[in-house]
Amino acid sequence: MKLAAPRESHPQETRVALSPETAKKFRALNLDVVVERGAGASAGFADTEYEAAGAELADGGAAALAGASLVLKVRPPSAEELAAMEPGASLVGMLAPYGDREAVDAYAAARVDAFAMELVPRISRAQSMDVLSSQANLAGYKAVVDASADFARAMPMMMTAAGTVPPARVFVLGAGVAGLQAIATARRLGAIVSATDVRPAVKEQVESLGASFVMVESEETEAAETAGGYAKEMSEDYRRRQAALVAEHLARQDIVITTALIPGRPAPVLITVEMVQSMKPGSIIVDLAVEQGGNCPLSRPGETVDHEGVRIIGHVNVPGRLPVDASALYARNLYNFVSSFVDGESGAIRFDWDDELVTGTALTRDGQVVHPSFRTGG
Ligand code: NAI
Repeated sequence: MKLAAPRESHPQETRVALSPETAKKFRALNLDVVVERGAGASAGFADTEYEAAGAELADGGAAALAGASLVLKVRPPSAEELAAMEPGASLVGMLAPYGDREAVDAYAAARVDAFAMELVPRISRAQSMDVLSSQANLAGYKAVVDASADFARAMPMMMTAAGTVPPARVFVLGAGVAGLQAIATARRLGAIVSATDVRPAVKEQVESLGASFVMVESEETEAAETAGGYAKEMSEDYRRRQAALVAEHLARQDIVITTALIPGRPAPVLITVEMVQSMKPGSIIVDLAVEQGGNCPLSRPGETVDHEGVRIIGHVNVPGRLPVDASALYARNLYNFVSSFVDGESGAIRFDWDDELVTGTALTRDGQVVHPSFRTGG
């Protein structure tokens, strides 16, 4: 069976879904591997490396996709790419189905079985397939590096003959995968770090990284975490109390990293315009949730906004700012997912429709929308 990795067509995408390392591993499972020429160029993988791994190179996306039973992607395919896929082919990628319901119907109409990797259940068996974690971890690191590069002061305390440089104060909102890595990175740079979240379970993790934890304690937080470990949307009353706490804390901070997300919903607003105005000029906010609507209403996707001396950084595709590592980890996530359904003798791919990894991620099957979240238009 043929596996294809076309070059990502989105202009802001630097990552690639197949690395030379995973190309070699798929070849070892007796799959024919085809890569579009130049697919790995922006991620630091040369065509010759794919060839050395046993992959064939194709000129253009259509040539790569022709006859492929399995297509690996980072982003959802363009209409052109979808049209070039074989009916009956399987598509695996970060398909962002919540953001584009019509695309789900388009996969069904094209008779492409589409698997959205963001929906991999967060169970221990699937940790090595968890694209949200692999990418968020890098984003959390890069957010702090980006902030420190823009910050006109040093991060660590320095005691010099000319006097003492005070340490920067970093506040991380949302202590999930990205937030915890942001805390660890800011600590390594010598900052004084604090963090908040609605899930009390993260307190210990935050403190074990050497940061202090601030949060609104309420009965509601006991139930703030879903069975899947995600946050729920909080009540009006909770949000008001949280806003008061954040406002009080924020005025003393130099760098703020916001990472708060609620699956399938717009990101919660945690930093209002008034709160930004209470911050010292020269402070930096990095809004990692900017593509989901932002945790701060002033952030703009792809822009750095200066609001009364406070800079709000809204980089899009932050993992793609570290394309080499992001691609290597993402490609391994896809290999770990797909390879569990490949018969290594024959190279045949057979998804097990009784397995929650398959039913949890499959959007479409045999021309029908099958995922429970999308079947009814929800
Ligand atoms: P996420 O990206 O959905 O959200 C980021 C963080 O924002 C979360 O910690 C969330 O609680 C927080 N948040 C949401 N609304 C907030 C608000 N109003 N105020 C403050 N904070 C808010 O979360 P992520 O990073 O994907 O992690 C979610 C959970 O999944 C965690 O419990 C994590 O430990 C768990 N997880 C489990 C894995 C596994 O078992 N395979 C792998 C990775 C993560």
